Order: sequence, then structure tokens, then C-alpha cells
Amino acid sequence: MRGHTTRGKTRRGRLAALDRYLIGREAPLLTRAPKDAAVVDVGFGARPWTTLELAAALREAGCDAPVLGVEIDPLRVEQARRCMGDAPPGVTLREGGFTWWQGSEEARLVRAMNILRQYPPEACAEAHAALGARLIPGGLVLEGTCAPRGEVLVTHLLRREEGGLRREALLFMNDFSQGFAPIMFRDRLPQDLRREALPGGALEALFARWAASWEATRAGAATAAEAFARSAEALAQREPGVAPDPALWGMGALLWRWG
Ligand SMILES: C[S@@+](CC[C@H](N)C(=O)[O-])C[C@H]1O[C@@H](n2cnc3c(N)ncnc32)[C@H](O)[C@@H]1O
Repeated sequence: MRGHTTRGKTRRGRLAALDRYLIGREAPLLTRAPKDAAVVDVGFGARPWTTLELAAALREAGCDAPVLGVEIDPLRVEQARRCMGDAPPGVTLREGGFTWWQGSEEARLVRAMNILRQYPPEACAEAHAALGARLIPGGLVLEGTCAPRGEVLVTHLLRREEGGLRREALLFMNDFSQGFAPIMFRDRLPQDLRREALPGGALEALFARWAASWEATRAGAATAAEAFARSAEALAQREPGVAPDPALWGMGALLWRWG
């Protein structure tokens, strides 16, 4: 599938919370064999900050997998190479698209944040399939959207299983700098799911239950973070896709598993 250059906005720290989630929750995937299966950041934008920060977080956590930053705009790749002065070891930047690999390269993780928002929803299924085509078994595609500073983020977790790429879950994250209400996530849904939050859509019921859980529990909360955790706990009691996970809620994150 051919992609195209889009707006290149990015920011230092924008995906740092997602980096922390990955280190905390996907360590076995990030550190297992084969050693040369890469971690790929597709569409790094006008500067390679998200790629370099992900690489730094991985190295700090003891993951020495190769990190590949890919961008479809050759000029941005050229500019980004000038930012590699203090790059962590094992990072490569190069021009590429959804079909990011060369030769027999494989990946354990492919992240494509804030890319498909600028594509039509109909393009998403094909883009997902391409992004995940070279995943090792159990490997993960993260594709989603976030606010400009990363304060609210929603991403697909698409897992490579025997039968192909499976929609495993949606990950919701909030840093509470803008407060919290479940509706805040609706504007950051991955591009192929935006319609699903409308009446009759697959996510409408989830948002309605989350809003009801929040309304029922928010009065006693001293902070937005506490209101979030309380709403998550109440939601988990009525929504089978949400497992009780206070440690995750404490990170400002909630996982909703499909089906
Ligand atoms: C908004 S920036 C996102 C930067 C960064 N991922 C972030 O979240 O801050 C989107 C970038 O993706 C690039 N892009 C768009 N389609 C692409 C594709 N098919 N493959 C690789 N990069 C792509 C654009 O050229 C642009 O630089």
C-alpha cells in the first residue's frame, strides 16, 4: 500500500507515556528472541524525537533490539539524521512507508502514532495489515492518535497470532493535565473507530457505561487521576472487556479488550 506525506507535527515527550506502558507491560516481547527483530516507529514526523525517546527508554530497560525510525518524506529523514548526535545505540532512520521493511527484516513491535488520522477510514485495514506483515509471532502493532502534547491518547493493540493480526484491545491513556472525563477519549480514537462512537456503533455502549461509572463515582475524588481510577474500577464491574487492574489505572491507563 502506498502512503503519502502528511503534516509532520510532533513533540518531545509526546509518546513518553506510551513508552512507559510498553516497558511496563510488554517486557517479555521486547526482550525475547530473535534478537534482531526490530522495534519500528513509523512516521516519526518533522523531527525524530519519538523514535529517539522510545530507543532511550528501551535501552534503559535493558532491551537492546534494533530500533528503526521510518518516515515517508525524504526531506524529513535527511533533517532527522542531523538530530542523531546523542542518539542511543542501535537506532537507524530511513525513508519508508507502511511496508517499512527491507529484505527479510522482522519486527517485534511496530508503532504508527498520529499517521492514519490524515488518511480516509477505508485505508486503515490495509495499512494495519501492511504494518503488521513482518511481525514475529506475538508481535504487536500500535496504531492510534493522541493530543498535541500526548495528554490524551487512544491506540489499537493489534497482535500477531497464528491466524493473522488480531484486534486485541484498545488502550486509553490520560495524563490529567486537562482534567478527566471519558468523553475526552472520543476525539482521539483511531481513525477507523471514530464512527463506532456514534449512536449504534460498537464503542457507543462502552462510552455510555464509562460516563455512567464516572458520574456515579466522581463526587468523592480529590483529583482527576483519582476520578479516573474510580471510574475504571466501577466500569470493570459492569464491562467484561475491562479487567480489574489498579496498577494500570494508576498510570492513567485503561485497557478494553474486544469481544
Ligand atoms: C503527525 S506526524 C506524527 C509524528 C509522530 N509519530 C508523533 O506521533 O508525534 C505524521 C508523519 O507521518 C508521516 N507519514 C504519513 N504517512 C506515512 C506512511 N505511510 N509511512 C511513513 N510515514 C508516513 C508524515 O509524513 C508525517 O511526517
